[in-house]
Amino acid sequence: MWTLERRGPPPLTPPWALPTLLLALAAHTAAAAGTAGALTYPWRDAETREWLVCNQCPPGTFVQRPCRRDTPTTCGACPPRHYTQFWNYLERCRYCNVICGEREEEARPCEATHNRACRCRPGFFAHAGFCLEHAPCPPGTGVAVPGTPSQNTQCQPCPPGTFSASSSSSEKCQPHRNCTALGLSLNVPGSSFHDALCTSCTSFPLSTMAPGGPGAEECERAVIDFVAFQDMSSKRLLRLWQVLAGPEAQGLVTPREGRADLQLKLWQRLTDLRDAQAGALMAQLLRALREARLPGLERSVRTRFWAH
Ligand SMILES: *[C@@H]1O[C@H](CO)[C@@H](O)[C@H](O)[C@H]1NC(C)=O
Repeated sequence: MWTLERRGPPPLTPPWALPTLLLALAAHTAAAAGTAGALTYPWRDAETREWLVCNQCPPGTFVQRPCRRDTPTTCGACPPRHYTQFWNYLERCRYCNVICGEREEEARPCEATHNRACRCRPGFFAHAGFCLEHAPCPPGTGVAVPGTPSQNTQCQPCPPGTFSASSSSSEKCQPHRNCTALGLSLNVPGSSFHDALCTSCTSFPLSTMAPGGPGAEECERAVIDFVAFQDMSSKRLLRLWQVLAGPEAQGLVTPREGRADLQLKLWQRLTDLRDAQAGALMAQLLRALREARLPGLERSVRTRFWAH
């Protein structure tokens, strides 16, 4: 004789095994009974020792009292925090034993007809039984398809004309700003890592401008942008940064550091130099370019910003 009572500790079976088993048994019983509608099961009356055919109980209920020769099965509603998902002849409802983890949230609460179900919280996706954080797209790439509870973020390299300056799991590549349309001139073309840099500095040369005079600030800003966001190799960027930062900073930067990080550092260093001593930026910068052996860039800076 087979029975589906649950006694003692829960069986060490995967959670899907029991419902599947119940379903198989239910289908078998229905076929054997040859009836459409209510499912049945064989039951031996304890008093009369007689074999009976009892009705099963529908989902959300359990067998409170098996049928007798003259009374049908009594089904009882599952108590709170318990459920039965299928037609059954269980003597008690199953406990809602699914507990949502720290990185999960309730997708379906525990109800009389089904167990609690969890899904990964926003910002996480399910992988190999764990909820992992959606990966950010690094600078130069943008979100192509945002992560879902079941899938990681999908990134794409920013196509020409667009950029992404930050590491983010939500930001798409943004189009470069259009300097002409803004009434400005293009100082540095945009890359996949940074926006186009515009300037209103047109009244070159810087050399004839009084430090702090009208237009000087904007033109100094333009020089800084121009140098820091030049399209040059990390090696050259690093060389320039090391010359500008002085010997005390030599150990702080490794060549492994990303180019975008290095550009920001260089930009910050040049900004600091400008703020430290009004009007001294250009002379220091040109000296540093020579020392860092970047004659091509030195020439461009002179031509653009220092011409007499
Ligand atoms: C920028 O704007 C100008 C004028 O509005 C337009 O002619 C030009 O095509 C734009 N450039 C880009 C790259 O969108």
